[in-house]
Amino acid sequence: MEKYIINGGNVLNGEVTVSGAKNAAVAIIPATILCDEPCRIENIPNISDVTLIAKILQNLGAKVTRVNKSTLDIDPRPINTYCAVDDSVRGMRASYYLLGALIGRFNNARVAMPGGCNFGVRPIDQHLKGFAALGAECELLNGAIVDAHSDRRMQGTSIYLDTVSVGTTINLMLAAVKAEGQTIIENAAKEPHIVDLANFLNSMGASIRGAGTDVIKIRGVDYLHGITYSIIPDQIEAGTYMAAVAATRGKLLVKNVTPKHLESITAKLREIGVYVEEYDEAVLVDATERRLRRCNLKTMPHPGFPTDCQPQFVALLTTVEGTSIVTENVWDNRYQYVRELLLMGAHISVESRVAIVDGQVPLHGAPVKATDLRGGAALIIAGLVASGTTELSSIHYVERGYEEIVEKLRALGADIKKQYVPEDEAAVTA
Ligand code: EPU
Repeated sequence: MEKYIINGGNVLNGEVTVSGAKNAAVAIIPATILCDEPCRIENIPNISDVTLIAKILQNLGAKVTRVNKSTLDIDPRPINTYCAVDDSVRGMRASYYLLGALIGRFNNARVAMPGGCNFGVRPIDQHLKGFAALGAECELLNGAIVDAHSDRRMQGTSIYLDTVSVGTTINLMLAAVKAEGQTIIENAAKEPHIVDLANFLNSMGASIRGAGTDVIKIRGVDYLHGITYSIIPDQIEAGTYMAAVAATRGKLLVKNVTPKHLESITAKLREIGVYVEEYDEAVLVDATERRLRRCNLKTMPHPGFPTDCQPQFVALLTTVEGTSIVTENVWDNRYQYVRELLLMGAHISVESRVAIVDGQVPLHGAPVKATDLRGGAALIIAGLVASGTTELSSIHYVERGYEEIVEKLRALGADIKKQYVPEDEAAVTA
């Protein structure tokens, strides 16, 4: 057991380098299952979700070699099973990409239901509807394992998604990339990591057009050859540091980013009064001596404001002038972290999908608990601006998605450290 100890009040300044995108990495690593030759993947973030998905591939029989901190060599050829049902599979959300990848390779998949952060119900009905349209019969075994089977190659078809879903779009691309004929996904999600996955598959010889728009056309191919591929920068990690520096009224050059992917975040920061300048692969965020004011914020699928930055922005909005109104349009229940912010003195009221956030309410340090990955990031930001000491527990959520967050924040001037909590003390405070 470990926790973060944060002494608030320091202003963040300097430069931070953003890592590769978590949500691209956790799709591209299972996508290698479809490749007929070994691949090298670069700019992989060193986070626990990546370690876990790489381990799951190894358990399936793939040869996975870590070349350095951010590069993996994966040889998927030795994989000879389509069953991924052990406990590690339940430990993360993205393990559902094994379904699409294994169906794409074996026309069959048996995969334990995915875990991941709890935002209320996280259905996979659209994934299953898509697999069925491609020709796989899908069943839920004992309520815990998805079994998709077919005795022939997937057949290309048109699939209209009832909900704009990142996971479904990715899973259907994986299942269709080697299907017979053409698959069309309509009402597809448009997130940067969907484009990244399409670029990865196309570089190997796939034929995917329209990724990044709401209609994706996939013509099935027989063979995917090995490549070296570098994952895009993490839009959400960048947005987290942008919110953190604005909250502390500092100045930060955020490097290794694609400014286009950050447009909705940049626009919202400018609206509240932060100065943001875009370069080719960096953004400068300057909140020094600026008067920041309230805003309305609504999360939407890309290119809207990302739900994965909503908690960090709520933490920021507690520091600005006026009352902000935040509407969460993607997840039913993504405000669990608010209860912890209240323990730090925040004035926030939540009614269903809307949070009303009073600004300029001084926060004070407190023992708080990460409720999920991005909620944990919001509590770190709150700890950085609060008076006194914040002790953040359940940090395994944060470490699922942020590479070296303590080191990166310390280099910017934050007073944050990781502390080991003996088992017996952890049991008392749990
Ligand atoms: N939905 C359905 N049926 C489905 C699938 C989704 O109704 O079959 C609904 C969901 O309940 C939700 C909405 O559609 O209301 C969007 O869900 P989506 O499928 O897009 O989410 P996801 O693929 O499960 C990914 C990210 C999340 C991020 C969402 C939205 C990964 C591994 N996870 O989840 O990231 O919040 O897209 O952008 O890529 C995070 O990184 O902190 C995180 C939670």
